[in-house]
Amino acid sequence: MGPRSKRSTPAPASDEFLRFTSSVAFDYKLWRYDIAGSLAHAHTLAEAGVITSRDFDKISAGLKSIAVDLMNGRFEFDSASEDLHMDIEKTLTERIGDAGAKLHTGRSRNDQVALDMRLYVRDSIVDLIERIVLLQETIVRMAAETTDVILPGYTHLQHGQPVLLSHHLLAYFWKLERDIERLSDCYNRTNVSPLGAGALAGTAFPIDRTLAAKMLRMHGVTENSLDSVSDRDFAAEAAFAASMLSIHLSSFCEELIMWSSQEFRFIHLPKELSGGSSMMPQKLNPDIPELIRGKSGRVLGGLVAILTLLKSLPLAYNRDLQEDKENLFDVFDTVGASLHALTHFLAELEFNEVRMRESAEVGLMTATDLADFLTTRGMPFRAAHGLVKELAELADGDDKKFRELAMDKLAVQSKKLESGDLDFLALEGSIEKRTAEGGTAPEGVAQQKEKATSSVAKNRALIKSMRFQTSVVDELLSQPSGASNSSVVGNDPVLDAR
Ligand code: ARG
Repeated sequence: MGPRSKRSTPAPASDEFLRFTSSVAFDYKLWRYDIAGSLAHAHTLAEAGVITSRDFDKISAGLKSIAVDLMNGRFEFDSASEDLHMDIEKTLTERIGDAGAKLHTGRSRNDQVALDMRLYVRDSIVDLIERIVLLQETIVRMAAETTDVILPGYTHLQHGQPVLLSHHLLAYFWKLERDIERLSDCYNRTNVSPLGAGALAGTAFPIDRTLAAKMLRMHGVTENSLDSVSDRDFAAEAAFAASMLSIHLSSFCEELIMWSSQEFRFIHLPKELSGGSSMMPQKLNPDIPELIRGKSGRVLGGLVAILTLLKSLPLAYNRDLQEDKENLFDVFDTVGASLHALTHFLAELEFNEVRMRESAEVGLMTATDLADFLTTRGMPFRAAHGLVKELAELADGDDKKFRELAMDKLAVQSKKLESGDLDFLALEGSIEKRTAEGGTAPEGVAQQKEKATSSVAKNRALIKSMRFQTSVVDELLSQPSGASNSSVVGNDPVLDAR
């Protein structure tokens, strides 16, 4: 018998092995950022005299011709490439010869991919904020159209106190407002250039890293080369902000789903945007909110996958990081699609105001108001609470009986009752009393609506300033070769003031 082969299993088929290691099947989505980043890197090299301006012109023209082909769908990614960075560089060198082979001087795919991901996240955040603002506007419009509609307010999904529907809807506005703040904070931390970090230790070429950052309209450069290539905390943070947003959408959808059920009947589902049953002819199903609720699971999965892949990575770059992409792409795509679907769904939705009112008349919803009233007449709140609790038990869920018992009790407890004193026992009276800032009283809700409207205007300005930065990628790709680079750097009033 001959010597045993050391390898007990056959070597994997090479194309399966390539499919396992290659990222080109998904990282091709980064091509715009990759080419813009390469243009910025080449510019930095040329400014430092590392490559000649002739080589720079060739590189620039070559990269832009690749961009044109990509935009027109004429560029075929090679599935045999390890990743898009290799593929684009190979094509560049095929097109322009030796100059193409100089592009990667002083650069590694490690700082290159970190840059591409930052540019992708920056862009995707703005897309998301834009969609959130459209949803916010829809909510403000709905709140304005339903100012006098009352529905039950719940805790533990039990009737608690009556609230205005506009107040209920605006609650989601402020959740979305914080989602925008989180995304915008993340944007600022993401918007710095890692180029020049090289593979891990920095570059030995005398380049000015800030040139590339300026050209890409980023706030500045990263401080430490090891940190620059090893972390994807900005991606995890973006995935968290998107997950929180997705949870907000899911909760909102959960309410819409309940409200559409025969038990609630608070809304009429829009026919064109609802599903049916293949068997039960009468069915109208809240498919869109259900899908948004369901898709939030995928988004959270993406966040957990990104966090988990970062856990325990030693410095500096590790190939594990390649696994950030599909997860993050899916997170942004899914939340973006959910926002779009919900905004359209809400625009078509009709409220059953009569049914909301009927429902709010049930469940002794003004019991707290009665206790509050007794407190204003000198009874300690705990005692008032106990007394009203007894009345509630006596009434045994009968709202009419509760009101009668309350009147009798008040006639004994509170002498000198004036007309209007007991208005709070009606739903409107209860709502009108909640005047402290942030409460459901109509004036407060009107103020909230004004604040919400100015937040929308502020958010629009934020988007504009972010778009000035992110749009540089397309500007760089479409600018004719040979045009002066300084013209693309531009002046951002917001940036310059920093
Ligand atoms: N495709 C890799 C990624 O997405 C980048 C390449 C880095 N590879 C390497 N051998 N250093 O993370």
